[in-house]
Amino acid sequence: MLELLRWHGDREVADGLVDLAVNVRLPQPPEWLRRELRDCLDGLAAYPDVRGARRAIAARHGRDPDDVLPTAGAAEAFTLLASALRPRTAVVVHPQFTEPEAALRAAGHRVRHVLLRARDGFELTADAVPADADLVFVGNPTNPTSVLHPARALRRLAVPGRVLVVDEAFLDAVPGEPESLAHARLPGVVVLRSLTKTWGIAGLRAGYVLGEPELIERLRAVQPPWSVSTPAAVAMVACSRPQALQQAAANARAARDELAGLVAGLRALGVEVAGTPRAPFVLIRVPDGLGVRARLRAAGYAVRRGDTFPGLGADWLRIAVRADMAGFLTALRAALPASRDLP
Ligand SMILES: Cc1ncc(COP(=O)(O)O)c(C=O)c1O
Repeated sequence: MLELLRWHGDREVADGLVDLAVNVRLPQPPEWLRRELRDCLDGLAAYPDVRGARRAIAARHGRDPDDVLPTAGAAEAFTLLASALRPRTAVVVHPQFTEPEAALRAAGHRVRHVLLRARDGFELTADAVPADADLVFVGNPTNPTSVLHPARALRRLAVPGRVLVVDEAFLDAVPGEPESLAHARLPGVVVLRSLTKTWGIAGLRAGYVLGEPELIERLRAVQPPWSVSTPAAVAMVACSRPQALQQAAANARAARDELAGLVAGLRALGVEVAGTPRAPFVLIRVPDGLGVRARLRAAGYAVRRGDTFPGLGADWLRIAVRADMAGFLTALRAALPASRDLP
């Protein structure tokens, strides 16, 4: 079970394949960021100090530095939450990124699934989460469905006695960051952010948690010392500057246009697209999904299998949005089962 929960897009990638499986947007960090990272190397003899990063992130989200915990990627936050909290009923709203569940299980917690359904467009329904859940994980926008839940639906889940974790790892890739709770100081609400996707720094490990100071302090108490490196802290400061945010916003607008082109191309092939995609990836359902995935690999394209996500089966595939998808759409058309009636 844990083995499948720990299957991620990077396992699909191989030499010679176009990578549509991993959702890191840039092939490498931008030059201004690489320069700042190179410049910090002389200071590596010192232990890292994340205070500047806390201040910069707080300023970016209009919050207090005490509301911020820098982490070694958003992924570290799942482990900290699983280790610091003692939930009676932990709920993961699936299909979503599987690391929250993997971290909860590894820490010995039982996990209840709430499964959103394809026929509802994978949207949150009002009564989806049981009232007794005292720890709830939701992705927004959700990986792999690409669905963006309304902030008002999330606010309804933030009830007294519950910690609601909203994973906003991809929200900086949605123009204007709509429906975000990052700036809202809501009791019991924890927001996770990642810098790795937008800035091409998955190998650096940079993310952070936003929440009430008391909760942040509980997470900090179980965080290994110096787990955020000096280069990661430098990236947090650099990527919180207004110029960086403007660049992220421009990249998000470009991704939105690419997404619209891909969705139109998929629909023209008669392929089912899940929900209303808002993130820079798309979830599709095709007959013989694993066969289609294998034929796409033979044609030079790695896509992400969907069957390791609770709530999805072998016919679901996730595709990262890239600039030029015409070649992929041609390969997909050829990879689809011959019996389909294509337009
Ligand atoms: C939804 C979601 N949250 C969090 C993460 C982890 O991000 P990071 O690289 O910051 O650990 C990922 C990585 O794929 C993700 O897809």
